[in-house]
Amino acid sequence: MSGAPRGLTVPALRTRKGAGPPIVAVTAYDAFHGQLLAEAGVDIALVGDSLGMVVQGQETTLPVTLDEMVYHTRMVGRGAAGRTFLLADLPFGSYQISPEEAVRSALRLVKEGGAQAVKLEGGEDYLRHVEALVSSMVPVVGHLGLLPQRVHAMGGYRVAGRTPQEGDRILREAQSLVAAGIFALVLEGVPRELAARITREIPVPVVGIGAGPDTDGQVLVIHDLLGWTPEERRPRFARGFADGRGEALRALGAYSRAVKDRQFPSEEESFHRHAP
Ligand code: KIV
Repeated sequence: MSGAPRGLTVPALRTRKGAGPPIVAVTAYDAFHGQLLAEAGVDIALVGDSLGMVVQGQETTLPVTLDEMVYHTRMVGRGAAGRTFLLADLPFGSYQISPEEAVRSALRLVKEGGAQAVKLEGGEDYLRHVEALVSSMVPVVGHLGLLPQRVHAMGGYRVAGRTPQEGDRILREAQSLVAAGIFALVLEGVPRELAARITREIPVPVVGIGAGPDTDGQVLVIHDLLGWTPEERRPRFARGFADGRGEALRALGAYSRAVKDRQFPSEEESFHRHAP
């Protein structure tokens, strides 16, 4: 991305709290996705570390490296060309050790990847990290609820905040993150009632995923929403808005048959020694 963004900015996103249409966010991993999202008028392209699972075929997001995040962020930014807000995840292992490490990693995502903001998972343990990032002029989005980078500590991917104590803790963490300087919060895999309460109680936009309909916006993984994820592997909360996988399989089948039947390429699709 070069030059000033033509799409949404941090101040513009802030004003969407409780006003205007809900924020529309979708994950993106390459220039093609960036282009699609920009053309569709999506507000935020999230270069999520979910790319470890949906692009790289890994079991978790943990192996994704900062270099890979920088590479994918740059590609998405090239496709979106400033027309969609570009948000990038700080991957596991790129910020946990210290606030300084978080700043160093985030600066790479901004300088080399073109990210307009970064997202990190966690609450109380990362308040100093968020403060350091904000002081370094890197806008930050928080991420609470189900935290995929904590898959081992959690013993799997489970809905978070089901008990009143857990719910209160997540709300307190959201408030602390706001005090530390986040300008938006992603809330993943929490009961609808808790998401609604947190959305009411904090002054920054809450973007939900598996958090019910009452947040200030929604985010989905592009493979889920376009129907590329096999249905049996798509989470219950992730509606497929197209049958991308079915369409792709039909097209690949048709191409294979045409090649085998020598129906492709046709005369019109062939070159000749002398142009007509
Ligand atoms: O990595 C990701 O795609 C995310 C979304 C699921 C919010 O963080």
